[in-house]
Amino acid sequence: MAYETIEVKTEGGVGVITLERAKSLNALTAKMTSEIAAALADFNANDEIRCVVLTGSKKAFAAGADIKEIKDREYPEIYLADPIAETWEAVARFRKPIIAAVSGYALGGGCELAMMCDFIIASETAKFGQPEITLGIIPGAGGTQRLPRSIGKAKAMDMVLTGRMMDAKEAERCGLVSRLVPEDDVMEEAMSAARKIASFSRPVTIMAKEAVNAAFETTLDQGVRFERRVFHAMFALEDQSEGMAAFAEKRAPHFKNK
Ligand code: CAA
Repeated sequence: MAYETIEVKTEGGVGVITLERAKSLNALTAKMTSEIAAALADFNANDEIRCVVLTGSKKAFAAGADIKEIKDREYPEIYLADPIAETWEAVARFRKPIIAAVSGYALGGGCELAMMCDFIIASETAKFGQPEITLGIIPGAGGTQRLPRSIGKAKAMDMVLTGRMMDAKEAERCGLVSRLVPEDDVMEEAMSAARKIASFSRPVTIMAKEAVNAAFETTLDQGVRFERRVFHAMFALEDQSEGMAAFAEKRAPHFKNK
């Protein structure tokens, strides 16, 4: 499929989506988010793809929703048909592991998009922020909900109420970012993590993601019970037998994704 605002490629079991509106610092238009959703749907349907990396340019992962596109919207219009909001669901509900590789600005919807991914690998140039307050609005793609779950209430309130940016070091310190690397290494670091994930059993990586995500949606007791059910279910997989047999036989496992 031909895309206008993103570039999509595959490398082995890894799908890569690169945001390609560099002149606008990858400001997210309805077209762009619908293309991201379409690319993810293709990756979801493709059994060869076991992990996805989402990235932007050196200057910007994404500088937020395209302000020029939405500035003249009125309430009934944006409430009844918010095309961007609908496509966010495609990212947040994507079943396979997805990593954000972030350099430069990840602001507003860009920061929210990165947080919809399973983890963020950032370069030293990355800057995160929810500057919506400076525009007379609040974050609208999950920022007020995912940011406090990720970095706690104090930092999240600070970011959302002041609109300030957080540099990559602070983002790593407070847990928004899982790995911090030099700018030139960010893509290789993300690809190497993705290749590692892609080498494991596909159903198991999806279940692992589902179990971790349950921690944010349930009580501890419910979450632990959910995890136990999923853990027990794994003993119905050939890949569990293979993984454990390979360990006992001191050889590499050959997972069959079933
Ligand atoms: N929407 C539309 N265009 C944007 C944009 C955005 N979010 N961010 C940057 N651009 C455009 C600029 O208008 C400019 O275009 P022109 O050359 O045509 O004027 C181009 O990208 C380069 O930007 P700057 O000249 O401003 O670059 P800079 O290096 O001086 O500043 C910046 C970089 C600090 C990121 C600045 O561009 C900025 O503050 N951008 C807006 C960030 C923002 O407020 N994001 C939140 C958007 S609302 C949102 O995301 C809602 C939500 O939760 C879903």
